[in-house]
Amino acid sequence: MTQDELKQAVARAAIDYVVDGEIIGVGTGSTANFFIDELAKIKDRIKGTVASSEGTAARLRGHGIPVFDMNEVESIAVYIDGADEIDAAGAMIKGGGAALTREKIVASISQKFVCIADGSKLVETMGKFPLPVEVIPMARAAVMRKLAALGGQPRLRTKAGGDEAFITDNGGEIIDVAGLSITDPVALETRINQIVGVIAVGLFAQRGADVCLLGMAEGVKTLSF
Ligand code: 5RP
Repeated sequence: MTQDELKQAVARAAIDYVVDGEIIGVGTGSTANFFIDELAKIKDRIKGTVASSEGTAARLRGHGIPVFDMNEVESIAVYIDGADEIDAAGAMIKGGGAALTREKIVASISQKFVCIADGSKLVETMGKFPLPVEVIPMARAAVMRKLAALGGQPRLRTKAGGDEAFITDNGGEIIDVAGLSITDPVALETRINQIVGVIAVGLFAQRGADVCLLGMAEGVKTLSF
């Protein structure tokens, strides 16, 4: 099976977690896009969605699925999103698609977080995938120095093929931190959150996944945390 077929399989499996008549949180990325396409097939069963990025909102609307502003919503029944890495406790690195801050916000009011990913994303210790940190642009250099002091190699994310900083949906910039071995994800999340100028860190450990659907050659494996 190709990686896309594995992503498609978990996207299909995630439909079982959709709660009828409710608002569904929808993540960002290629796996989330497969989920949106599956959700479109049962769109009449749900009240609507909250999107974790402008790109996701556009894709949902393109399918005729209602998208609510999160300020109009008190609680979300289930949030379905991909991940860049996930560990055996359900902690994740996210933000490869630059939507980490909104993903964290949507996750914070979701009763259940279902992570959907191909099996290659499950790791023993996170950190091989550079950890994304969204920052206020004027704090970029100061935050990078602090991240380097934590033992990482911070690098500003740029627009494809150029030197210009990539700008998020929130007007922030992304610093990708390579070379970390994340043995205590909760502690590192707390520490990076405390750096002034950080908008959000792509470590989802304090609020990790409740369920992870992993696409494997032999089928979809379910991990519950
Ligand atoms: C976006 C994310 C994505 O969930 C993560 O990057 C995984 O993406 P993909 O499903 O394309 O592998 O966190 O900010």
